[in-house]
Amino acid sequence: MKQKLEEIRKDALAAIEGAQDSAALENLRVSYLGKKGQLTAVLKQMGKLSAEERPVIGQIANEVREALGGAISAQAEKLEKAALALRLKAEAVDVTIPGTPVELGHRHPLSLILDEAKDVFIGMGFSIAEGPEVELAEYNFTRLNTEEGHPARDWGDTFYITEDSSVLLRTQTSPMQVRAMETMPLPLRIIAPGRVYRKDEVDATHSPMFHQLEGLVVDKGITMADLKGTLETLVKRLYGPDSVVRFRPHHFPFTEPSCELDVQCFECKGQGCRVCKNEGWIELLGAGMVHPKVLEGCGIDTEVYSGFAFGIGLERMTMRRFSISDLRLIFENDMRFLAQF
Ligand code: DAH
Repeated sequence: MKQKLEEIRKDALAAIEGAQDSAALENLRVSYLGKKGQLTAVLKQMGKLSAEERPVIGQIANEVREALGGAISAQAEKLEKAALALRLKAEAVDVTIPGTPVELGHRHPLSLILDEAKDVFIGMGFSIAEGPEVELAEYNFTRLNTEEGHPARDWGDTFYITEDSSVLLRTQTSPMQVRAMETMPLPLRIIAPGRVYRKDEVDATHSPMFHQLEGLVVDKGITMADLKGTLETLVKRLYGPDSVVRFRPHHFPFTEPSCELDVQCFECKGQGCRVCKNEGWIELLGAGMVHPKVLEGCGIDTEVYSGFAFGIGLERMTMRRFSISDLRLIFENDMRFLAQF
């Protein structure tokens, strides 16, 4: 039996040292030390031994078990180290290889202009409001003094969401006037930039989606002079102090009186060219004194308060500023164009 144990010790140690991976090592552990392993089998026969032999053999058996256990742990550690060394080598990063440059992006020209405009208005004490693009006809039209049957509500011009014409994609940012007057305390000084939608064919000056920036001021004693001063300040801050503007009478249902602001053509300085369609002026925005009906519809006392409002076409502002002659360039996302700003 002693001989058998020595044999097991010798064979097992050799096998363990030769094991090439952890699976092989585990197989060896089972086949020697497991419940049905060779060493266990020998130990099971201890009962047949004489009383003198038993402790001697027992001691040897324990030694063999410890030796095998130790050898297995040692080999496992060795295999682990080898595997780690292999992985480190395989996954090594050469920090001296030049990196792939990440191209830094930049702002879209429309965002640049919007941020500048926001800056100017915040400087004049305005705050920024935002509202839904899917809007109620109630806000987009009715409460802006544009009753049922008004040509602006035509299905040919507006993207209606519901068959009954009660929900639509807002055609202007003006509904934000009503939303602001409904929810914010007076005095009121807000701008509300955002997308608007109209059923227009795409060409050099039209797009079914574009951006407006609405403005609204309601306070005691507001007059047309405040309107003119505010908008002239904006134009001169954005386009330089030499910019020439003119206010032209116009009609909007929700303002009275109403006007449009034109800026002298940047291309021809008023001489007339392709950009200004030979007019010498480019229309930039609509504005006016908020109609008493609109104020009263929001529960504002027109004996005490008055206000002015304006709606700016952001694309037009951007085109004017960067001398862009085709609106489509703003939306096509051609990097050759965008990279210029
Ligand atoms: N909402 C008008 C449009 O889309 C622009 C406009 C005109 C806005 C006059 C105003 C305003 O606030 O007072 O054509």
